[in-house]
Amino acid sequence: MSCIIKTENLSRDFKSGNSVVHALKNVSIEIEKGKLTILRGRSGSGKTTLINLLGALDRPDSGSIIFNGIDITRASERVRNELRRKHMGFVFQSVALISMMSAYENVEFGLRIAGVGAKGRSERARKCLSLVGLAKRMDHRPHELSGGEQQRVAIARAIAHKPDVIFADEPTAELDTHMGLQVVKLFRDLVELEGLTVVMTTHDPSMIEIADHVLTLEDGEIVDAR
Ligand SMILES: Nc1ncnc2c1ncn2[C@@H]1O[C@H](COP(=O)(O)OP(=O)(O)OP(=O)(O)O)[C@@H](O)[C@H]1O
Ligand SMILES: [Mg+2]
Repeated sequence: MSCIIKTENLSRDFKSGNSVVHALKNVSIEIEKGKLTILRGRSGSGKTTLINLLGALDRPDSGSIIFNGIDITRASERVRNELRRKHMGFVFQSVALISMMSAYENVEFGLRIAGVGAKGRSERARKCLSLVGLAKRMDHRPHELSGGEQQRVAIARAIAHKPDVIFADEPTAELDTHMGLQVVKLFRDLVELEGLTVVMTTHDPSMIEIADHVLTLEDGEIVDAR
């Protein structure tokens, strides 16, 4: 298997007052390139902590993360910023679209931030909105879209700059089961069509069978990997 991210003995502690929470304990995993991997586990099991480390949004207390051959745990903030901006895309539970902008403008603006030239932006923004099934909704503002449609705009924005990996933390949590499944199926299609790698967290069991790989966390430890 060709792996895009590999972690070795990752640990992350959180201190609050006199107590310490061992949010992750010696987590060693591999994320396969071009596949959809789901991180699952009960609330508090460490899913968000792990995905934040993989996406270079946080640093571990010990252990290492190799992303595309680069040890991001030892890299400078400058290198990590660059990696996030160019090679990673993020989708969060609550959609963070800009309310004054249309769906198209939200995606186009994301490309501008990623440093894509004006010529390429328009075409790519349209293509990504079409990929997520919103070709006819491009000019709608977020409040003129359903929750599932807004989440799809957020996904179009996350994939527009052609990242290697999308990290999605509970992207379906605020959607009903039907909409949630549609969003996960969309990730499935993007993996096939665009060769994306997707890492997503969920505690919804109905999503699990759509994944290529499932990693189960319990109390900060990987207890099952398949
Ligand atoms: N900033 C923090 N300070 C202190 N403790 C934290 C912090 N962030 C997370 N924790 C603790 O670390 C553990 C793992 O939290 P994490 O957010 O990774 O869980 P999760 O699996 O994402 O849960 P959920 O499904 O509820 O989102 C929990 O016990 C949590 O209380
Ligand atoms: Mg979480």
